[in-house]
Parts: sequence; structure tokens; C-alpha cells
Amino acid sequence: MNENLHRLRCFGCGTRIAGVEAQPDFRCAQCGELFEVEYPGWSERRGPDRPNPGALKWLWRDRRASLEAADQSGVWRFRELLPILDNLENAITLREGNTPLYRLPRISKALGIEQVFAKHQGMNPTGSFKDTGMTAAISMARERGFEWVACASTGNTSASMAAYAARAGLRSLVLIPEGKIAWGKLSQAMDYGAVTCQLPVDFDGCLRLLTEVVRQAPIYLLNSVNPYRLEGQKTPAFEIAEAFEWDVPAHIVVPGGNLGNSSALGKGFRELHELGLIARLPRISVIQAAGANPLVRSLANANGAALEPVQAHTRATAIRIGNPASWRKAVRVIQETGGRCLDVTEAEIAIAKAEIGAEGLGCEPASAVTLAGLKKLRAQGFVAPEDSVVLVLTGHTLKDADYTIDFHRGTLLTEEETGGPNSEIAAEIASLRRNAVAVDATPAAVLAALKGQVR
Ligand code: F0G
Repeated sequence: MNENLHRLRCFGCGTRIAGVEAQPDFRCAQCGELFEVEYPGWSERRGPDRPNPGALKWLWRDRRASLEAADQSGVWRFRELLPILDNLENAITLREGNTPLYRLPRISKALGIEQVFAKHQGMNPTGSFKDTGMTAAISMARERGFEWVACASTGNTSASMAAYAARAGLRSLVLIPEGKIAWGKLSQAMDYGAVTCQLPVDFDGCLRLLTEVVRQAPIYLLNSVNPYRLEGQKTPAFEIAEAFEWDVPAHIVVPGGNLGNSSALGKGFRELHELGLIARLPRISVIQAAGANPLVRSLANANGAALEPVQAHTRATAIRIGNPASWRKAVRVIQETGGRCLDVTEAEIAIAKAEIGAEGLGCEPASAVTLAGLKKLRAQGFVAPEDSVVLVLTGHTLKDADYTIDFHRGTLLTEEETGGPNSEIAAEIASLRRNAVAVDATPAAVLAALKGQVR
């Protein structure tokens, strides 16, 4: 692995630079857009650096039985497709990736879709999909000799960064919007030893501020504007393709916040396609919360050519983002794969989350937008009964236990959001709620609690 294998290409003006030439904010000096990692050797059809698809499929599977840390990582197992480090010894891994792909039988039946799966990225070491990107970018920070790393976050990026920084022996700085992140995530950043600053601004404000900070001090920026994050975050695409024996599912559905994840997954599938590992692309659809839907608006109003930032509001705090950094990359993914982009209400998110919980999996609210979105895509006829669908669940249910408890206690949503006590939505919620009941400490009282419980 070495610097010559990769370079950075500006997503806006196409300027190409070496990785070491990137500015601290990872914006193009010419046009201000973001960069994407590219591997020049791949385009030389018979060149020695062009990966060999057949051999790789065997090699990657073989590594799952290896005892080497890098081989046990679901990111570095695919290292031939992310040759970003000079030396693999610099890889900091918590054995991220290799997350389970679960069938969702009840949801499949209810939606009339033969095969619905959940790729549960919440089963990563710090409980979210961020770990796959963080292992890549933190390793780069260490290789480049940084002492400090930093991110602005709605919670998961900071939890992940703090853990990987601690493993790498680096110091970490976290900027979070005060009062707007789930406790589970905040507790992680503290536990892993980050310097955590709560600011009286939203996520977009935190990121703007941090961009200033990294220009003034030698701190390595670990938000998804860092193109190396996306190199790690593209690997779940490889895992999904592998799980489907390299015949990809018809649809992938992902939540959209800052839009790094959808961009990364799209890049992953695109590269598999270009290298001949898969014969077609899955349609990638991005779902946002209705109160934080700048990409939905951008596609509807400007065909994705411009994006108007919004003031974001949603209880799915992970995706409470009004000015997403990677929107142009996400637009390309949706347009080139033929996916759709739509938004879902707070009530739809809450119901979908409870349904994923009832499958024995659970996820955080931001992840549940995928199922809420799938219902709409099915109703539109965009997803057919015979299609296979993978929902990307981005975070673990324990990340935001308050949300779950409020839902089951019936205190989460307002009447305006449910349409009042007699609405269809209220009835659906009532059928999903499982509040804890206080009973006397006798067998009779416990058995009485079972009465009237229908399956
Ligand atoms: N789901 C969860 C659980 C998230 O934490 C995030 C983003 C997303 C979805 C959206 O992904 O930004 O790549 O479109 N969380 C970031 C954070 C912003 O700071 O933890 P995206």
C-alpha cells in the first residue's frame, strides 16, 4: 500500500491532487467542493495495479478465517479496494464491519415483498455504521503523524471517533449541538476520553465552526468531508454484494443526514461494477425525516442541481441536519443508480422503529426511516413484490433508549403528529406499544398481566 496508488479528485472541478496536498478542511482550493479518492491503476485494464475480481472474491472470504487483526476487520479484509495507507501496520481496527444481514420475515409479509433484509450496521463496535469509516480515517491520521483529531457530530461520529482515537493513542475533540444528541452517544464520547464541547448551535453550526478551528491548528478533521472516511464506509457495499453471491439486491435503502453514507455505499457499488465484480448496480434510495429534508427538496425543486439549506427538526437527532456536506455526491448516487429520495414523518419513523424492534433487532430512530421509506416506495410501485431489498440500519437501539421508552409510554408524539386519539396512526401505535406495567410481587399478579395479551 502506498501513496502512489491513490489520489484525490475534486468532485466539483475535477482537479487532481496527491493525498498529502489536501487542505485541513478537505475542500478544493480551486472551487471549494469535496474530494473523492480515486485509484489511477484501476483504469489500466491490464495494469498490475488493477484488481483481479475472481481472485479477490476468494481472498476476501478466506480472510474471515484468519487470526490477523486486519483480516478480521470487515473493512481491511477488503484492503485491495481501499489502498490508502502506506503501511497496513498503521491500521487501527476494533474489528469493525462484518455486520449481520438479517431477514425481516414479518415486515416482508406485511409489505408483500418477498425478501426484505436489514444490514445492521448498529452491530459495529461502537454501535453505529461510523466505525467502518473511522477505522480508515483514523489510520490515516496516525500515518500522517497527527496528535489531535476532531469532528462535529450528532453523536455517533463522535462516539466512534473517540473510541478509535483512544485505540490509536491520539487526542480527540468533539463538537456537539447542546441538548440535541442522545445520551448513549454522549456517554460514549466521555468514556473514551474525548474533549467534548457542547455548543449552543445545531450540527451544521458545529461543522462550520470546526472547519475554522482546523484551519488554525494542526487537528485532523474526521467528518465525512474527509474522503478517507468514505473509503471505509463503502465496504458494507462489498459485504452486501458478497452476501448475495455477487448478484446484488434490487434495492438498497439508506437514511440521509450529512449524506456521507449514501455517497460511500454508492461509490462502493460503482467500483465493484467498474472492476467487474458485479454485473449491475442496485437502486439506492435515500430517506430523510420530513423536518430535515434538504435533499428531497433539492431533487424535487432543482433536479439535484442546487441545495437550499433548511432549519432541521426531528426527534431522529442523528439526522437532524439542514445543510448536508455531501449532497452532490448523494445526488449522483441516486441518479446513476435510479433510486429515489423521499421523506417520512415523525409518526412514520416511530412506527417503523417499533416494527423493527418487534423483529427482535431494534435500531435507532434515524435508521428506522429506511423502513418508513420502503413502505412508501412499495406503495408507489417502485419496489415490486419479487424484488430483494436491503435496509441499512445505521445505529443500535440502545443509542437512544429515551426515544424508545417515550414511544412505549405513549409520550413520544404529539396529537398533531398522530392525527388525534382516534386516527389510524394512533391505532397502529397502540398495537405496537409495550409499556412496562407495575404488578404486585405475586405469581397471580404476574399471570394476570399476561391475560388479554394478544399475539
Ligand atoms: N443514521 C445514523 C444513526 C447516524 O448517526 C447518521 C449520521 C445517519 C444515519 C446519516 O448518515 O450523515 O452519512 O447521511 N450521523 C452523523 C453523526 C452526522 O455525527 O453521527 P449520513
